Amino acid sequence: MKDRFGREINYLRLSVTPECNLRCRYCRPEEEEGIRCGALLTEDEMITAVSAAAELGITKLRITGGEPLLYKNILSLCNRISAVPGIVETAITTNGTNLAALAKPLYRAGVRRVNISLDTLDPGKYADMTGGGDIRRVLDGIGAALDAGFKTVKLNAVLIGGFNDDEIRALAEITKKMPLDVRFIELMPMAGNRVFSEDAYIPADTVLAALPELEPWKAGTEENRSTARLYRLPGAYGRVGLISPVSADFCAFCSRLRLTADGMVKPCLHSPAEYCLKGLDKDGMTEVFWKAVQEKPLRRGALSPKANNTQPRPMNRIGG
Ligand code: 5AD
Ligand code: SF4
Repeated sequence: MKDRFGREINYLRLSVTPECNLRCRYCRPEEEEGIRCGALLTEDEMITAVSAAAELGITKLRITGGEPLLYKNILSLCNRISAVPGIVETAITTNGTNLAALAKPLYRAGVRRVNISLDTLDPGKYADMTGGGDIRRVLDGIGAALDAGFKTVKLNAVLIGGFNDDEIRALAEITKKMPLDVRFIELMPMAGNRVFSEDAYIPADTVLAALPELEPWKAGTEENRSTARLYRLPGAYGRVGLISPVSADFCAFCSRLRLTADGMVKPCLHSPAEYCLKGLDKDGMTEVFWKAVQEKPLRRGALSPKANNTQPRPMNRIGG
């Protein structure tokens, strides 16, 4: 399905729960009491919504959270989503802490791509950024994901000046040891971010300066026309991706919609606009998706560390 600006919209990010076992500073507010959140979608409603979206032309589905592996019926949900006619690819974004036991079952449930959040290799810094997380669990999860046979395993590192800019090389060099991609993502100012100084917002090009030997990977090809600019370290198995939602934007190539766990279709990550489909039948949901696509803005509004509220939802209540 095309939006008003001719962009093909074929990608839905479905947040299955706002809950998380971690509390990353850039994602979850300290206090979530009082944050407006409606009743959550049931599993059947999610399937109906995905079916409606697929009939409109959504082919790619990414399951997000919060932490999606905390959703109690995650395997059944993945199985059912992968079986929806029209959905050709099911992916998941997870913090990896529960992935060791779930990687193979997820593959069997039809998931083919896994993105895992890992911002640092230092156990102490990891615990600090995530509110007490145990990095060993994530490293075990990454190992299990590599064993399970996914098409791609990608690590997501949010770049934070003064926190992990001294680890750019160490993080990127994981691609020399393991067949996976490492992607550096610019820190986005979002509602509920715990105070980062302005120095924390560093451009993704910092990675190019830190790793002068990076080679552009298939520059200009269709495969490289996504949210990430792709590079490779000489001799590495995987690629290094730079994702610049702040210093640049990929609005011109935007192909996505989001559906929050409480049933709101969001045309844009950085806009407060949202349309409720909770409680509707499939035809009603189709109408809401259609409307949301027509409401997709041409470009996001300006992002600034000083005004981290282009929209009221913190990231864990949108879907990372
Ligand atoms: N800026 C950039 N990325 C973020 N994520 C969550 N919050 C932010 C933010 N403020 C991303 C992280 C994580 C995924 C779930 O969402 O990359 O891997
Ligand atoms: Fe949880 Fe992911 Fe948000 Fe961290 S970034 S608090 S792991 S949802």
